[in-house]
Amino acid sequence: MELTPEQQKLGKENFSTAVSVSRRDFLKGAVAGSTGLGAAYFGYEELKGEPVRTAFIGTGDEGNILLSEHPPKFMDVVAVADLRPSNQKRAIHGDGNDARIGLIRKVGKEKAGQVKIFDSHKDLLAAKDELGIEAVVIAVPLNQHQPIGLECLDAGLHVLTEKLMAHNIKQCKEWIRKAREKNLLLAVGHQRHYSVLYDNAASLVHDGLLGDIKFIRAQWHRNNSFPNSDQWNPGIKKEDMEALEGKVQEFGYESVEQLVRWRLFNGTGGGLMAELGSHQMDAASIFLGHVHPIAVSGYGGKNFYGVKGVGSLDKQDDPRDIDDHIYVTFEFPGPHYAEDQNDKAIVTYSSINTNRFEPYGEWVYGSRGTLIMKGEKEALLYKEEGRGSQGGGPDQRLWVVSGSAGGGPVLEAYETSSGSAKKSDDSGGWGDNISRGYTEEMEHFCYAIRNQGPDYYPGGKPLPREEGGLRCNGVVAMADAIMALTANRAMARHERVVFKDSWFDPDSPDTPEADLPLEGENPEDFRATV
Ligand SMILES: NC(=O)c1ccc[n+]([C@@H]2O[C@H](COP(=O)([O-])OP(=O)(O)OC[C@H]3O[C@@H](n4cnc5c(N)ncnc54)[C@H](O)[C@@H]3O)[C@@H](O)[C@H]2O)c1
Repeated sequence: MELTPEQQKLGKENFSTAVSVSRRDFLKGAVAGSTGLGAAYFGYEELKGEPVRTAFIGTGDEGNILLSEHPPKFMDVVAVADLRPSNQKRAIHGDGNDARIGLIRKVGKEKAGQVKIFDSHKDLLAAKDELGIEAVVIAVPLNQHQPIGLECLDAGLHVLTEKLMAHNIKQCKEWIRKAREKNLLLAVGHQRHYSVLYDNAASLVHDGLLGDIKFIRAQWHRNNSFPNSDQWNPGIKKEDMEALEGKVQEFGYESVEQLVRWRLFNGTGGGLMAELGSHQMDAASIFLGHVHPIAVSGYGGKNFYGVKGVGSLDKQDDPRDIDDHIYVTFEFPGPHYAEDQNDKAIVTYSSINTNRFEPYGEWVYGSRGTLIMKGEKEALLYKEEGRGSQGGGPDQRLWVVSGSAGGGPVLEAYETSSGSAKKSDDSGGWGDNISRGYTEEMEHFCYAIRNQGPDYYPGGKPLPREEGGLRCNGVVAMADAIMALTANRAMARHERVVFKDSWFDPDSPDTPEADLPLEGENPEDFRATV
């Protein structure tokens, strides 16, 4: 359903109101704390001591976003490494896109001039002592996250890696154990864990404002059917080809094409579920109370690229391995599932390549209200219209009554639509430039390095979030990887797959890949060593 601009405005205002009422005490504390919004929300403070000397490995599309958003008061970028000459330059000069401004614009010409540039992560690690590097941010293709991450831990460096955590769950488990052994931090960049917008939305859901949640619909639909519209299949720059032809194999890529178009191939990427779906299943599991799913089933296919008679000719010889359309259904436990196994919540996820009519996001349908998370930047809230109640639906401004008879806050609607709504800007008071969480995730990573260093794994487990631990540590991120990669296997095997608890346990050798092999795979190759 497409909402009118008026309805969207109401939805945003509703969300603002609900947050300001039901989080009043928390918000007062956050303002009084005056350490910055992210710090107040996520339990860290200004950094005492020097910013953490950090190197970036991989300065492509995402590495450059992270560089642009890095927090200089917490993080001192002293070096960058990238195999591709074009992306080394981009790290310094940016690319004309406001999301990727380059280090010169970010920290000034003089400081940017002091940043050392390396041709690979190996060259960078060889210079780590000389440069006093303490931590790395890794934003390379998926198949290399863990191999490079292990080398960095072995070099004594704390690691913040981009998502998906790793290419398979054996890698995740061995990585978690290595970090524990070395007592170094392992953080993973599922940025919704550090988004103020998501944090507020999750707390409204957890307060029970939406009632019973039985259904979440999440989707990321794109339309790459127009010529040259597929960002996952970019051109290869001449300078990159000239510098790297015949040289990428030692870094884990079959060819320069596989390095540049890594998302298209099973050997380097994890398909739509890993790249897009993992974020949204992460959000769904947060909304449902940080729980693991019970089962997943679905359909995935190469229904567009390479299909005779479909699309334009340039799509016919497309080289991709991955599915271009996926539709999956996850079954999650409801709050009373242990007593009654009918208490389930269903999350459907779709990602397609031939229509982008709706924005990407998550639609949370509760028995008392609906929450819509749009494009990581907007949250809209509506009250359900009950029989004989005072209204609801998309045209109704709502207010929140705190401390109802049942104890928690509840939604109420104004009698008329926008008439009694308080005035606010179009963003519903959140501003258009709301952070997606990248800056906060890097701030907290650095804060944790300075404050939790040697005590990060008390009793062999990472410090819990409630005690200031990282919000997306290896164990949390592994659960996201399990959801995404198991969904891929359910689709490939045309099965409903039940999740095993032992997959989520870093100390167990069990993995979904070992238990659900695909054609030509040896399960033993995927069992984790313990
Ligand atoms: N959190 C998010 O929302 C988000 C969004 C986009 C991408 N990502 C993740 O970020 C990662 C990178 O994605 P991208 O879009 O930037 O890809 P990209 O291809 O644009 O960039 C990857 C870069 O890594 C470099 N690289 C590869 N191996 C290297 C090595 N051994 N040493 C040094 N550099 C090396 C490549 O040359 C390339 O420039 C992926 O894991 C992706 O899933 C996350």
